[in-house]
Amino acid sequence: MRAWALFLERFGGEPEGVWLAPGRANLMGEHTDYNDGFVLPFALGQGVTAAAAVASGALAARRLTLCSRQEPDTAVSVDLDGLAPGQVTGWAAYPAGVAWALEAAGYRVPGACVAIDSDLPVGAGLSSSAALECATALALTSLAGVEIPRADLVTIARRAENEFVGVPTGVMDQSASLRCQAGHALLLDCRSLEVAQVPFDPVAAGAALLLVNTRARHALSDGEYGRRRAECEEAARRLGVPSLRSVTDPADVDRLDDPVLRRRARHVVADDQRVLEVVTLLRSSADVDAYGEIGRLLSQAHASLRDDFEVSWPEADAAVEAMLAAGAAGARMIGGGFGGSVLALAPAASLDTVRDAVTATFAERAWTPPEFLSAAPADAARRVA
Ligand code: GLA
Repeated sequence: MRAWALFLERFGGEPEGVWLAPGRANLMGEHTDYNDGFVLPFALGQGVTAAAAVASGALAARRLTLCSRQEPDTAVSVDLDGLAPGQVTGWAAYPAGVAWALEAAGYRVPGACVAIDSDLPVGAGLSSSAALECATALALTSLAGVEIPRADLVTIARRAENEFVGVPTGVMDQSASLRCQAGHALLLDCRSLEVAQVPFDPVAAGAALLLVNTRARHALSDGEYGRRRAECEEAARRLGVPSLRSVTDPADVDRLDDPVLRRRARHVVADDQRVLEVVTLLRSSADVDAYGEIGRLLSQAHASLRDDFEVSWPEADAAVEAMLAAGAAGARMIGGGFGGSVLALAPAASLDTVRDAVTATFAERAWTPPEFLSAAPADAARRVA
């Protein structure tokens, strides 16, 4: 338990516990969450761990002291009474933002020491930020002796990211980290915030999931994400609906004169539809080729994200193309875009060929070799020690 060891080393005592929050991959529904639509993420085995204890001695005042194995040079100590958005920058803004959001929601956070470790690659589109928020949220609420319903904790963690860190993300990532179940994908209706667990076990059906970190870094804060969001809001306004979720007939999108807004809306409306189609396929256990169909939908979604929503990037396009040519049932970029990871579904027997095809394509172009990650639908955030 590396977070435990880090805590001992940095704070000179034992933590009261260790909490783990997973990253996520998203099976279907990209850029649909902030349009009040549907998403279908699943939690990964990899995540962020936080070892924590209430501060004692000289640190006992209302201070939150944070250190991270991945950022060894920046231990950060903040005054819980003086926290305000914009005041903490860098990685520590996420955990500090959670303390701020908890206090803003009326929970008193005790002075605490938190040591953080992660086995999730940062910038790979696998929600390392949400995992950091959610691990911190579980640690701090446990130390405070309060149990907050998961749905409320999602709101608090998201508020930390939106208002304290200042990134205008939707509700998918925190929901996935806090509400997924092993062996399932999480169907989340981002309008009602209702969730359903959908059995998702590709291995049992002879299929394999392959997660490829293309190593092209993504940064959500660089403005493109916010621009897409604004375009979707403008499209909804021109169509006279509260959000693009309300557009259920794809033909309605054609009423938009502006070609860019039309493309953006077309992606969102189609991806919402694809989420529901994947859910139907997963629930129809009688259909032997459900995974072949899901694969087809994945590739369709990639084309839509590349051509209509315009958030893909060269490494993702090349990886998808290589995997399909090598026998994958389907593949697509996941997450916000402009870098990050690709998710593929392949018959288990062709997994090695598919993987080798990506490696070869990247080598031909002299790109940094891709990283392959396992992607078995795992459990949500929890206490691990
Ligand atoms: C990022 C955001 C999510 C979601 C995805 C795109 O991961 O954090 O809220 O909008 O991009 O689907």
